[in-house]
Amino acid sequence: MPEQKFYLTTPIYYVNARPHIGHAYSTIAVDVIARRHRLLGDDTFFLTGTDEHGQKVERSAAAAGIPPLQFADEVSASFRALWDRMGITYDDYIRTTEPRHISAVQKLFQLLLDRDKIYLSSYTGQYSIGEEMFVDGPPGTIGPDGKPTETVTEENYFFRLSEYQLPLIDLIESDDPEKRLLIQPESSRNEVLSFLRGNVAEATERGEVLEVSASGKAYVPGALKDLSISRTSFKWGIPVPGNEKHVIYVWLDALANYMTAIGYGSDDPALQEKFNRYWPADLHLVGKEITRFHCVYWPAFLLAAEIPTPKSVVANGWLLFDDSKMSKSKGNVVRTETILDAFGTEVYKKQFPDSTKKEQDLFGADVLRYFLLREIPFGADGSFSFDAMITRYNADLANGYGNLVSRTLGLIVQNFSSGEIGGSPSGIARVPPLTKGNDTLAFIYSIDLRAHADTLVGLYQTENEYAFGSKLQRISDFIQKVDVFMTEQKPWKLATYLKTSSATTYPDAARQKEFEDNLRNDIVRLECILYTAAQSIRIITALLYPVLPFSTARVWAQLGLGDIEEAALNGELKNLEWGGLKPGTKLGPLAPIFPRADKGLAQIMIDMENPNAPKPEQPTPSRFVDETTTHTAPVPTDPTHPGAPPRTSGFADVAPGTTVAGSLAISTERTGTPSHSEAPASGIFANSAAHSNIPDTPQIAIDDFVKIDLRVAQIVVAERIPKADKLLRLEVDLGYEKRQILSGIAEWYAPEELIGKKIVVIANLAPRKMRGLESHGMLLAASHGEDGKPVLATFGEEIALGSRLK
Ligand code: ME8
Ligand code: MG
Repeated sequence: MPEQKFYLTTPIYYVNARPHIGHAYSTIAVDVIARRHRLLGDDTFFLTGTDEHGQKVERSAAAAGIPPLQFADEVSASFRALWDRMGITYDDYIRTTEPRHISAVQKLFQLLLDRDKIYLSSYTGQYSIGEEMFVDGPPGTIGPDGKPTETVTEENYFFRLSEYQLPLIDLIESDDPEKRLLIQPESSRNEVLSFLRGNVAEATERGEVLEVSASGKAYVPGALKDLSISRTSFKWGIPVPGNEKHVIYVWLDALANYMTAIGYGSDDPALQEKFNRYWPADLHLVGKEITRFHCVYWPAFLLAAEIPTPKSVVANGWLLFDDSKMSKSKGNVVRTETILDAFGTEVYKKQFPDSTKKEQDLFGADVLRYFLLREIPFGADGSFSFDAMITRYNADLANGYGNLVSRTLGLIVQNFSSGEIGGSPSGIARVPPLTKGNDTLAFIYSIDLRAHADTLVGLYQTENEYAFGSKLQRISDFIQKVDVFMTEQKPWKLATYLKTSSATTYPDAARQKEFEDNLRNDIVRLECILYTAAQSIRIITALLYPVLPFSTARVWAQLGLGDIEEAALNGELKNLEWGGLKPGTKLGPLAPIFPRADKGLAQIMIDMENPNAPKPEQPTPSRFVDETTTHTAPVPTDPTHPGAPPRTSGFADVAPGTTVAGSLAISTERTGTPSHSEAPASGIFANSAAHSNIPDTPQIAIDDFVKIDLRVAQIVVAERIPKADKLLRLEVDLGYEKRQILSGIAEWYAPEELIGKKIVVIANLAPRKMRGLESHGMLLAASHGEDGKPVLATFGEEIALGSRLK
């Protein structure tokens, strides 16, 4: 068994309502940290579960008209099912209604009674039901949940919290990493410390005598009051041992889960051993509103019981929706299921119709994981928006990471028939002088990328583990760097040159030899460029694994490296050395990793969240502008999402009557006859006029039609153009020649989907310049649906390149 253990927990969630992405946020963060510790070789234990007692749950169950346990069973199962759908790697799932928990909590309570840390007394106070806590103030005080408190007079058991003011301050302020309770972020630590110190300024004004803690800072003695830890006004809780009219305060009950789940209080020696191995917890990750419970009450209970205190409490900020904290009581929640369903079916399943539901879910979970951790600086509050999620996904994953992977691996497969990664392990040692291009640049970039990768790996190991956002940002920067490397080195050009000129012969023998030497050097150079990029991808993929477990597993397999989960457990993701990808590694089968997401997906998700919201008769289109055309905005037309209108045709992605830009005679109806229609549209694909199903364009004579030279071409290169979101640069093979065409389809097609496609090109269109690049021709595409999504015209049968359409 490894020496190091790492025990980490999520909060256990109340079962008074179903999960939303706020809960998923904390659970995702813990899953990422757990995966990271496992790959570091730590004996990791990850606990999550549900908090099922208390008045809040009792009332919710009553409102639902079912017994509390049945209510808890259902909601707890829905949390667990969600974590399973998302592939959360929890090691145990504790429910506070389980016997193992109940008996252990009673033991803890008894221990505190025996130690005289608990006493019986009467108390009248203001109780916030929402937050399950007593608060200071007159009757009707507004509680932390924004609702008036209730006056509660009870005979209560009290915990001698007041004895722990100084010990807690010292625990938090200690410099000794072995002893202290680390609280992050700093704002949470300060909040806890000022609560513990009391109001120093006011006490000074009143002339009270202050005391000073070990750190030299003043505190108000007596500021921390004893805590009521039992209730008698309701039944739904763990009975106090020996005095069953009391139930144990739900927070003492709940906090104890962190120990009861790993065997605290058990008579079973194996469980006792488990407890001794994993306790104290290394990390309790919690939402910022419950740090006080975790950093004051919880360590105080433990100090009183003489049990070691946890090593750290880390707080995540709030996910906001419509500017306020997403919460079940406000009802402004987004359900995680919506995101899994939408990305799973609208993005993943569209690309991979035969994929399983599980794969679709895990893909959706990856997208959510990445978005939440990348977008919001951990510890701070952040607004959730579907639009931001789609934008981030397309920018960082589809265009960034995914594009780099398919571009690089695609070139390896295309150019090295064995599909093996070439190059020398040192990456650059064999870069020979070049016949063309700028050799110094290749050399410098290679070294530079390697150094950059080393720095990245180094920072990962030393930097704050919870700075997810900046870590992901740094990976994105590196991805971009590798992208620039590729764009500058243009391995595809080199490859084309090698292919086309290898047969050249020179009458002069010396010239011929020089030519052949150069050719050999160029092959090595091509290998080196691709090797450098592939090497970088391996490192990027290993670093991204904890955040994107499903997608990185696919990349890992495509790199020919096998199973990433196995690699993680074997320590292969730990020491990320340059050269870890051995030359000669054979790539696995390639497929897109992150298919592009349509902007219309945001509306689909909004509709999924509000299935009953009245739909406008005529959807108001927002407009967005393309490089070449303007078209109207997205309206969900996909039949797989609930509430979508039924589709008029079940065939492909093109609706009947859809305008085909460029005058091509195609009918998209399965049984229909070709419909000769429509004049050339002004853009690459039709503009908004095309949305009308009735052609209203003037007739043309056949002479007009034959002026247009329509040819079959195959896309051989497709890539994004820096700083042009809408445009793709394509190289198409017409059989008789290759050409560059710029096309405004980047929002709808990922470059990797296009490579190999046989399409129709208007070959005799006058060249145009866009973004400083020349476009020689135009693709034919039909404009589909309200958002005018271009659907490329392709062929259902074998067809030679360059064939003319007439
Ligand atoms: O507090 N933003 O349970 P709970 C970020 N049972 N995180 C959020 C969030 C949001 N909008 N909404 C919820 C309880 N969370 C107790 C905990 S632990 C011994 C007992 C996350 O159902 C966040 O982690 O109210 C928060 O602390 C937790 O869910 C609260 O869940
Ligand atoms: Mg809460």
